[in-house]
Amino acid sequence: MSRIFSGVQPTGNLHLGNYLGAIRNFVELQAEENSECIYCVVDLHAITVWQDPAALRANTREVAAAYLAAGIDPKRSIIFNQSAVSAHAELAWVFNCVARLGWLNRMTQFKEKAGKHRENASVGLYAYPNLMAADILAYKATHVPVGEDQKQHLELTRDIAQKFNNDFGVDFFPMTEPLIFGAATRVMSLRDGSKKMSKSDPSDYSRINLTDGPDEIARKVRKAKTDPHPLPETTEGLEGRPEARNLVGIFAALSGRDVADVLGEFGGQQFSAFKAALVDLAVEKLGPMGAEMKRLMADSAYVDDVLRDGAKRAAAIATPIMDEVKDIVGFLRP
Ligand code: TYM
Repeated sequence: MSRIFSGVQPTGNLHLGNYLGAIRNFVELQAEENSECIYCVVDLHAITVWQDPAALRANTREVAAAYLAAGIDPKRSIIFNQSAVSAHAELAWVFNCVARLGWLNRMTQFKEKAGKHRENASVGLYAYPNLMAADILAYKATHVPVGEDQKQHLELTRDIAQKFNNDFGVDFFPMTEPLIFGAATRVMSLRDGSKKMSKSDPSDYSRINLTDGPDEIARKVRKAKTDPHPLPETTEGLEGRPEARNLVGIFAALSGRDVADVLGEFGGQQFSAFKAALVDLAVEKLGPMGAEMKRLMADSAYVDDVLRDGAKRAAAIATPIMDEVKDIVGFLRP
C-alpha cells in the first residue's frame, strides 16, 4: 500500500503551475489502486509570512475548492487544513530538535524568500522545511507528489527521518519518495522565462490564475513574453529560448501531447498563431474548473464540511503515530 501526502499553501493566487505541477497529479494518483491519498491545505506554513486573518480563511477555502474542482473526491481522499490536526505542530517541534542548523542553512527557498532581509524573516520561515517533514511523516507517507521546486525540501525530509531513526535506534519513519512527474514540473513566469511562475510575483500578468476567466486568460497569453523568431521545428531548437520552451511546455501539458508533437504542428509558425491556439486550449481546459471553484467558494458551508470530515480522518491516522513518537522520544503520556 502506498500512502500519498501533499500540500498547497493558502496564500492566494493559485496558478497554472500549482495545477500542472501538483494538483493535477494529486487527482491522477487518487485513481491508483492500493493508494491512500491525503491532501492538505497548509495554513501553518502560510503564516510564516504575514497573512491577513480574513484573507487566510478565504484562501484556505480557495485551495480546498481547487482540490475539489480539479477532481479530488473527498470520499476517496482526505482533504483537510493543517492547523486542524495538532500532530503537525507537535511533530514539527520534535524535528526542530532533530534537524541541524547547517541543513536549514542550505535551503535555497529560504534564501530566495528571505532575500536581503534575512534578519527580519520569521523564525517560522527558517524552520519551514521541518514542518513540511512533519506533515509528511506524521502519516508515514511513502510518496509525495510535488513540483520541481520542492525537491530539496523532500531530500531534507529523508535526512530528518534517517537521523530520527538513527538517534533513537528505531526503524520508524519511512524514506519518502518524491513524485515529480508530468510535462510541466516547473512552469515559468509568462513575463520572464527564467523565473518560476509564482503566487507572490507582483505582476498578475506573470501567471494564469485558476480562477481567471476567458478574457483574462486571453489577455495574459497575448501579452506573454516571446522572442522574435518563429517557433522551432524540433525540441533542440528550444535551447536558449526559455519563453518559447515554457509556452510550448504549457501547451503540451494542457493538451496531453509531447513537446515534439506540438512543435510538429506549430514549428515554423509565428507566435501569434500559436498563442491563439494556446488561448483556446487553456480556456477549454481551465474554464470549467475555474467556474466550479467559484461556485464552491460561494458555498463555504459545504467546503467547511469537507474540511471537518477530512480533519477527523487525518487525525485518526496521525494521532497514533504521534503517540508512538512520544513513546520513542521519552515523553510521558500520563
Ligand atoms: P506551494 O504552495 O508553493 O505550491 C504547491 C504545489 O505547486 C507546485 N508548484 C509548481 N509546480 C510547477 N511549476 C510552478 N511554477 C510551481 N509553483 C508551485 C509546488 O511544487 C507544490 O507541489 N512547501 C509546499 C507546501 C507543502 C507541502 C508539504 C508539499 C507543505 N507541506 C508536504 C508536500 C508535502 C509549498 O510551499 O507549495
